Amino acid sequence: MKFFIDTADIDAIRELAKSGLVDGVTTNPSLVAKAGRPFIDLIKEICDVVDGPVSAEVAATDYETMVAEGRKLAAIADNVVVKLPLTPDGLKACRTFTDEGVKTNVTLCFSVGQAILAAKAGATYVSPFVGRLDDISSDGMQLIADIVEVYNNYPNWETEVLVASARGPQHVVDSARLGADVVTIPPQVLGQLFKHPLTDKGLEAFLADWEKTGQSIL
Ligand code: E4P
Repeated sequence: MKFFIDTADIDAIRELAKSGLVDGVTTNPSLVAKAGRPFIDLIKEICDVVDGPVSAEVAATDYETMVAEGRKLAAIADNVVVKLPLTPDGLKACRTFTDEGVKTNVTLCFSVGQAILAAKAGATYVSPFVGRLDDISSDGMQLIADIVEVYNNYPNWETEVLVASARGPQHVVDSARLGADVVTIPPQVLGQLFKHPLTDKGLEAFLADWEKTGQSIL
């Protein structure tokens, strides 16, 4: 399972990229607004830091403008993935980009039916939002299970399931258990994945005992 980082914070991306754990980046208009930087420059900088796929979302809602925006975004770098909303125009634009060899991420997916449409449109990735479903007392991870099950019936569908709106380590673990292709993780959730009280306690004890040996390795 690939790890994408769900942020437009270039400092966080730069730092996490050094960990060797980052396979790609996803952004969205809300994250870009939070970053407070010119969008095109920001995407270019992220693409310079991360070799893997970097999702950049169109802002238009009509087919023609989405295609124009997507082409501009795709021209920034080879690893840009054009992110499109799961609407009729968004999926029409997805088909256009797929036919042109441009990678796509179809976002704002909340049902299996929508995920089927994204696969039929040839999306590179489909992004079901698990946290936002949990927020309305629905079951986000059940949607992932259902999409993975349906996609597995059609091995010729190449769309990858990209778990989005992950809110905690359990979403990451469940994504792996269900066989999702990718999970996009906010930086703080990646940090939480490292944590276990027994790791901290064990390390503390080992360091205290090592101190008693009076030795140094270097
Ligand atoms: C990623 O592609 C999505 O835009 C993102 O995961 C949404 O997360 P949120 O529901 O926490 O805003």
